[in-house]
Amino acid sequence: MTKKTILFVDDERDILNGLRRSLYPLCDRWNMLFVESGARAIEIMQRQKVNVLITDMRMPVMNGVQLLQAVRKGNPETIRVMLTGQADKEIYNEAMALCHYFFWKPTIFEDFEVLFHRLHCLDASLHNENLVRIIGGISSLPSLPVLFSRLLSLVEQDETDCLQVAGVIREDMAMAGQVMKLVNSSFFGLAREIETLEEAVTYLGVKTIGSLVLVEELFSRCSPAAMKEFQLDQLWQHSFCVATKARKIASAVENGAQIQDCAYLAGLLHDIGKLLLATHLPESYREIRDNALRTGRSCVEAELDILGADHAAIGGYLISLWGLPRRITEAVLLHHTFPSSGDVSMSPVLQAVGQANRLCFELCNSHK
Ligand SMILES: [Fe+2]
Ligand SMILES: [Fe+2]
Repeated sequence: MTKKTILFVDDERDILNGLRRSLYPLCDRWNMLFVESGARAIEIMQRQKVNVLITDMRMPVMNGVQLLQAVRKGNPETIRVMLTGQADKEIYNEAMALCHYFFWKPTIFEDFEVLFHRLHCLDASLHNENLVRIIGGISSLPSLPVLFSRLLSLVEQDETDCLQVAGVIREDMAMAGQVMKLVNSSFFGLAREIETLEEAVTYLGVKTIGSLVLVEELFSRCSPAAMKEFQLDQLWQHSFCVATKARKIASAVENGAQIQDCAYLAGLLHDIGKLLLATHLPESYREIRDNALRTGRSCVEAELDILGADHAAIGGYLISLWGLPRRITEAVLLHHTFPSSGDVSMSPVLQAVGQANRLCFELCNSHK
């Protein structure tokens, strides 16, 4: 297996030397390069393929945000990681829209081990270079305009509480994904994963949510043309139906509220790959739908034939790239492969989402 390349950028030589020493045990698996400026990093990336870029934020001439912007444009397939010692919320919001992962200095060896393991799993989940490139270039997914406006007006009211905000966010899969991405990033330094929207909103606070809503990069809208052509309102209804049913199915499982909320979120996000196709690959999505209609095949079969990956793999890849909890990613990735008889080794979240998806498909015969 060829080694992947990881490029570290930091203007402080001591930091680079420290990283080089501490990460030495991983050099049989990764080809690691260390450079002291953004310009040098770009030069290298023009010459050779870099799989992961890990950059400092505050650097002279070209800072981390500028470097991430340049890499997103020129090398969107590269996984972008921000490494910083500064608690700067303004830059953080800007950086969050540009990077896939975020680390505070000083990092420890285990941080990188976890990151590298996650990258390895990602790699195994999607084998289509073109799709990896397209997904890597996307920093946000569109939200449905109506819900977007509702949240915006809600956060403007002083007396709005976290439960109200969570209630609106959970109706929208793209917005739910962004909030979960944020709260699970290492910026908040939480010792455990946040798995539900209620926890996320309680932790972030209504004000932070409000400022995020205003960050256009994080919450962009679908074009009305895409909404109409691809019937995205139906996709939303289907996702809502699956989420609600998944919660109900999960309520039969002993672990209570936590599992139910997790199943709800996974249900909401399970077809996020379709949203991504409709908004960022409209021509391919059109071809897929026409092909399925003409041949009588399922959309999944047409996707595999035309793109080499289905919307479950694409959505699963995207949300694992965001760093959402494993059982949510797993449920998205595997929501079509749920067997007809219950498998006890399968996570209750995946079981609930798989079953709910099948039920909702049978009910309205759209969007499996
Ligand atoms: Fe699906
Ligand atoms: Fe579905």
